[in-house]
Amino acid sequence: MSTSSPELLVQLDRSRPRSLRAQLETSLRSAIRTGRLRPGSRLPSSRTLAADLQVTRGVVVAAYDQLTAEGYLTARQGWGTVVNAIATPETPDRRPAPAAAARYDFRPGAPDVGLFPRAAWTRATRAAMNSLPDLDLGYGDPGGLVPLRETLAGYLGRVRGVSCRPDHVVVCNGFSHGLALLARVLAGRGSAAIAVEDPGHPSWREQIEWAGAACHPVGIDDQGLRVEELAASRAGAVLTTPAHQWPTGVVLSARRRVRLADWARTSGGYIIEDDYDAEYRYDREPVGALQGVAPDHVIYIGSLSKSLAPALRLGWLVVPPALRDELIAARSVTDRFTTPIIQAAAAEFLRRGDLDRHLRRARRSYRQRRDVLIGALQRHIPGTRATGISAGLHVVVRLPDGMDPVRIAASASRHGILLHPLDHYRASPARAGAPALVMGYSRLTCRQIEEGIHLLASLT
Ligand SMILES: Cc1ncc(COP(=O)(O)O)c(C=O)c1O
Repeated sequence: MSTSSPELLVQLDRSRPRSLRAQLETSLRSAIRTGRLRPGSRLPSSRTLAADLQVTRGVVVAAYDQLTAEGYLTARQGWGTVVNAIATPETPDRRPAPAAAARYDFRPGAPDVGLFPRAAWTRATRAAMNSLPDLDLGYGDPGGLVPLRETLAGYLGRVRGVSCRPDHVVVCNGFSHGLALLARVLAGRGSAAIAVEDPGHPSWREQIEWAGAACHPVGIDDQGLRVEELAASRAGAVLTTPAHQWPTGVVLSARRRVRLADWARTSGGYIIEDDYDAEYRYDREPVGALQGVAPDHVIYIGSLSKSLAPALRLGWLVVPPALRDELIAARSVTDRFTTPIIQAAAAEFLRRGDLDRHLRRARRSYRQRRDVLIGALQRHIPGTRATGISAGLHVVVRLPDGMDPVRIAASASRHGILLHPLDHYRASPARAGAPALVMGYSRLTCRQIEEGIHLLASLT
């Protein structure tokens, strides 16, 4: 418990005829009624507040006594004066009502944040704070903290086959932030549209359009992105998920990888590589990053959102030298830089091998959940087939003809089961394909997965 007095902003106007005590009382009452002083907040001691306001202590004691008598404050032995919870028409609760709790959340996207290695992260943060120079607590480098860029360059080379030097790395606040910056830069160059995979992530289409660039959807087949469609589109860049297409889970075939790299070399276009869940491979060889084969044409973007937690808001771009300065300039005029405290902790976390250790553990857990999901689907909903299963944190469930994924998702949601039809991710309704659902397994325990599928079966 801290015994120091909290700060409190109160303004008294000595030119007014009203007494200082009355002004103080009104000011505190209104701060409590409007919610500026929250229930449970501790007020400064009468001695401290009197000194801060340059009034006698008696003025503050009288104001506190009056508000205590009115029920706004309580004096607590050994703790001081505390604001009470009061219901007033002036302090409506503006928070949205909580959504009805989902019992089975099969939506893809987030990792199991319950696996977050809190103890290791705390150790890394402590070590980082002990060694972070004062200079790094000032305005930081828009490209990122040097120790993190060095660590990332080594990590991405070792784990993903990314070919880069530390000065090619630009630290950002997650994938979406990196994409928004990059789309701004490409739009500012007057680039033609940015091609996106269809189906793909609806938020990335919004992000690109928000940045002032046009989106051009390109189809996916069992080999991945249809490069011939891209070539015919005259797009100036393409956003792609080659290692595990989002959301179908298709891996870009070796031949298509070569054709995509050729497209970039011959057209001068850029490939934006979203390596969002590359860490989670279960029963196939890892697929190296495309950046490693065409580093001058690929902007590689990764983040800690899937490997650790979205709340860290930490990501990175690996940028060809030709784009680096413009990207850094865009960063400098928007939010300047990523907090060096998180950057230093992440560098320490990676350097100690904690990310590798965490991923080994997380992979085992997710693999088990995936196996339970596939087994439960086979047992309870015969005729379904899960695809895109060998990596990531979700699968695509192909439904037998005649089953309507939109109707199933709607009826599931009424029973507390959240999931999306595959067509939810399409940019062009014309591409709607065979009936399928996208089902994540990272937010549920094995038991919940089994129960959720059992319940879903009764609704199909
Ligand atoms: C396809 C895809 N890319 C990237 C990300 C990571 O985004 P961010 O780093 O902004 O949290 C996600 C997270 O859901 C994703 O689904």
